[in-house]
Amino acid sequence: MGLVWTVQNTGKLGDSIVITAPPTPGADRATAAAVPTGFPANFVFGSATAAYQIEGAAAQDGRTPSIWDTFSHTPGKVLGGDTGDVACDHYQRYAADVELMAELGLDAYRFSVSWSRIRPGGTGPANQQGIDFYSRLVDELCAAGISPVLTLYHWDLPQELEDQGGWTSRDTAYRFGEFADLVAAALGDRVDMLTTLNEPWCSAFLGYAHGEHAPGRTEPAASIAAAHHLLLGHGLAAQAVRARYADLPVSITLNPAVVRGVGEGNMEAVRRIDGIANRIFTGPLRRGAYPADVVADLAAITDFAFVADGDLSIINTPLDVLGLNYYQPMLVADPESTEHADAPAAGAAFPGSEGVKVPRLQAPRTGQGWAIDPTGLTELLVRTGQECPGLPLMVTENGCAFPDVVDADGQVHDPARIDFLRRHLLAVLDARAAGVDVRGYFAWSLLDNFEWAFGYSQRFGIVHVDFQTQRRTIKDSGRFFAEVIASAARSQA
Ligand code: FCB
Repeated sequence: MGLVWTVQNTGKLGDSIVITAPPTPGADRATAAAVPTGFPANFVFGSATAAYQIEGAAAQDGRTPSIWDTFSHTPGKVLGGDTGDVACDHYQRYAADVELMAELGLDAYRFSVSWSRIRPGGTGPANQQGIDFYSRLVDELCAAGISPVLTLYHWDLPQELEDQGGWTSRDTAYRFGEFADLVAAALGDRVDMLTTLNEPWCSAFLGYAHGEHAPGRTEPAASIAAAHHLLLGHGLAAQAVRARYADLPVSITLNPAVVRGVGEGNMEAVRRIDGIANRIFTGPLRRGAYPADVVADLAAITDFAFVADGDLSIINTPLDVLGLNYYQPMLVADPESTEHADAPAAGAAFPGSEGVKVPRLQAPRTGQGWAIDPTGLTELLVRTGQECPGLPLMVTENGCAFPDVVDADGQVHDPARIDFLRRHLLAVLDARAAGVDVRGYFAWSLLDNFEWAFGYSQRFGIVHVDFQTQRRTIKDSGRFFAEVIASAARSQA
C-alpha cells in the first residue's frame, strides 16, 4: 500500500467553511448531518485506538503486565474498579473490527502495540505470539485497503521496567529504542507511518507528578526526568526505525494545551502553562534545547542534571509528520488574580506552575463535561503550522464522550457527536484554508473502550460496544463519518 499522504494535494480547499451553533436538544438529525466538503484527494480520514484500551487478553499468549494492569488492579485508582483485562476483546475480534473499519470506509487506522505483548517484561527476546498478532492485524488492514498507522507507546510500560524506575530511569529510553527496532523489523515493511509516543505530557505528568494515571507516582522532580527520558526514548526509537526503513514516515503525537489567558493580561500564566505543557517537549524536539524560561520555572524542582551530552541532538532527530491530539482549550489566570481567586488551580500535573488558576470556560460541554470549542483546533493547527514550517501535521485524535445507548430500533442515535465531528472537521478546513499543511484527521475513537482512570464510564466510540456481549453497533456518528469520507472520495472522482 502506498503512503497516502505523499500524494500531491488537489488544492480544493474549504468549499463550505461555516461554523454554526451546536444543535438544540432534539434538533433534526439531518440538520446536524450536513457533511463538510472541500478536503483534498490525499486527505487521510481515520480512526484511532490504543492497545490497553481495547485488546483485552491481558495474560494471553505470553503477555506480561504493564503499569496499567497494575494500576487498574489497585483499588481506588480506576472508576468502578474497571480494568483492561477484557476491554473490547479486540485481541480475538480484530478481523471483525477491521471489517467494521472497511464498512466505514476508513483510509487509515491508528493503533498502538503492547510492549509487554511483543517483548514481555520489557527486555530480552521477542515474543513471537505477540508479533504474530500485530502481523495478522496489519495484514488484515492491508487486505482491506486501510493504511496501518502504528504507535509504539500509548502509556503501557512493562511493569518490570517500572520496577526498575520506569521513565525516571535513563535505561528505559534505551529499552524503548530496542523495542522500536524490534517492531520496525517485524512490521516496518507493511505499516504506513510509525509514531513513537502518544502524548508524552500525560505519561510524564499525569503518571509521575499528578498520579491520576499509571504508575500513579507523585514526584515532581522525577516527572521532569521522566519527560526527558520519554523524549530521549523517542529520539532513539526514531533513529532505530530510520536505520531499518529510511522511507517509513516517523512521527510523534503531542497533546498541546491550547492556552488562553482570561480577560486582559494573565500572559504570565499563559507563558508558564505553555512552557510546562508544550514547549518543554517542542523545544528539544524542534530546536534541540529546553527553553530557558521553562528551565527557570523549574529551578526549585530540578537542575536538569539528567540531560547527558548528546541527548538533545538525539531528541532533535527530524520528524516526517507531527501528530496533534485536541479535545478542548484551557483558560488560565495568574495565581494572584483576585478576579479568579475561586477558580481551581492547575495543580500537580503542571510542575512548577501548580498555582496558575484555571477558570471555567463558558462553552457547551460533552457528556464528560469537557468544553466543546472547535476554534481551539484551528488555533492549534495554525500556531503549530507557523512554528514548524515544512512539517506536515495530522490530527491524530479528536472526539467526545456521551452516554450513548442502543435505542429500541437497534441503532445508536448520537446527534451531539455528529455535530462535534462536523464542527471540528470544519475547523480543520479553516486551518487548511489558512495555509496549514494538515493532512489527516483521526476520530477518537473507533470503539467505546477503557477510558483510563474513567474505566468504561465514558463512551468515545463512533462504534458502540456492549461490554457484556461485545456486540458492536455503528453509531449514527460513525455513519456520518463514513459519509464524510465517501463524499470526499466522490468529489474527487
Ligand atoms: C487522550 C488519549 C486517548 C483517550 C483520549 C480521550 O488523551 O490519548 O487514549 O483516552 O484522550
